[in-house]
Amino acid sequence: MQRRIVRMDAMEILDSRGNPTLRVQVGLDDGAEGTASVPSGASTGANEARELRDGDARRFGGQGVERAIGSVVEAIAPALRGRDPSRQAEIDQALLDLDGTPDKSKLGANAILGVSMAVARAAGLPLYAYLGRAGACRLPVPMLNVINGGRHADNSLDFQEFMLVPHGAPSFREALRYGAETYHALKAVLKRRGLSTAVGDEGGFAPDLPGNEAACELIVEAITAAGLKPGKQVAIALDPAASSFAVEGGYALSKSGGGRLTSGELTALYGRWIGSYPIVSLEDGLGEEDWAGFAEQTATLGGRVQIVGDDLYVTNTAFIRRGIAERTTNAVLIKPNQIGTVTETLQAVALCREAGWRFVVSHRSDETDDSFIADLAVAAGGGQIKAGAPCRGERLAKYNRLLEIERELGPAAVYESPFRAPAGAPPAGS
Ligand code: PGA
Ligand code: ZN
Repeated sequence: MQRRIVRMDAMEILDSRGNPTLRVQVGLDDGAEGTASVPSGASTGANEARELRDGDARRFGGQGVERAIGSVVEAIAPALRGRDPSRQAEIDQALLDLDGTPDKSKLGANAILGVSMAVARAAGLPLYAYLGRAGACRLPVPMLNVINGGRHADNSLDFQEFMLVPHGAPSFREALRYGAETYHALKAVLKRRGLSTAVGDEGGFAPDLPGNEAACELIVEAITAAGLKPGKQVAIALDPAASSFAVEGGYALSKSGGGRLTSGELTALYGRWIGSYPIVSLEDGLGEEDWAGFAEQTATLGGRVQIVGDDLYVTNTAFIRRGIAERTTNAVLIKPNQIGTVTETLQAVALCREAGWRFVVSHRSDETDDSFIADLAVAAGGGQIKAGAPCRGERLAKYNRLLEIERELGPAAVYESPFRAPAGAPPAGS
């Protein structure tokens, strides 16, 4: 029996930073419903699809999303009424046609993504199996952001994210335990040193440290204090989000007072760290305009660690294609709201697989309790997700959903480190 979309509604809710965002609800003729909430970023790439914000200074400093709600209710709902919700690609194409702009600025990428996700949810359950078809059984290795800096915290760190990668665990459940226990050990280490244990936007601690490197030292100490083996059981991933401290001709480490570095000097710094700490992944180590610097970084460091492009690619196949041709990185960060529809997100994943590149499904710093990306990570099967610290509800919504999926899959669930293969090797099963 073919089911049909009969209802669509949207409301303004608040996200984890207390900013307005959209929640969209789609109803089918058989009574089934799908709801989805849209995340948002702080260190956004210049080429991301555009959110529609009200710009009315009297409400939420102009950040309201009543116009985006208007897009859903007045423009999108009538156009999708009567459609089969299982035709995701056709629905997403209809959304693109209805919008008609290259950056989704007319209806708003937030309105479009909310509808696209809610339709996927209404269409089939469980979501990971629906999006990934029968083979979706690989749980991702979580990247848990336990020290926050950059635009995500008011502290002395220029680099935005210092993450735990419990890739040596036997299952997702154990990986999350490794992550949580290390997080608590880190809290104890910070306390002992009289450092702040207040948290940043993604739930990681945000202490004032003498420099960026001190964060890596503390993390290694915490892994050991938790009774785990640094590198073997729990490794480190970095997302400096370097677009946020890129300046004319280089990079300014002004929060830490670390001076200015050229692109090459910054890559050399990462190279030294990779020699001293168990780092397996480096995301946005350079700024989004530094394509040549990235290619050099990948040529120098890409055999030792995964080099991930986030702001560079904004989950857009046009930019990823260029990266593949120019060997700019060897991996891609996948964020649905950077591109704006579920179908385009899956196309970005497919392109990575085709190229033999790894990819990491990711949350945003402004999140909601929606766990869509957990299902997406299992469906995509790349074996990696980044969803913040094991702290704060909007982050745990994703990790707890993965616990549920692992339980539901039972013996069929696979947890496998992508980092046992040489850096840059494609995800298993591709
Ligand atoms: P954002 O940061 O969500 O604030 O853009 C996340 C990231 O850079 O990966
Ligand atoms: Zn990033």
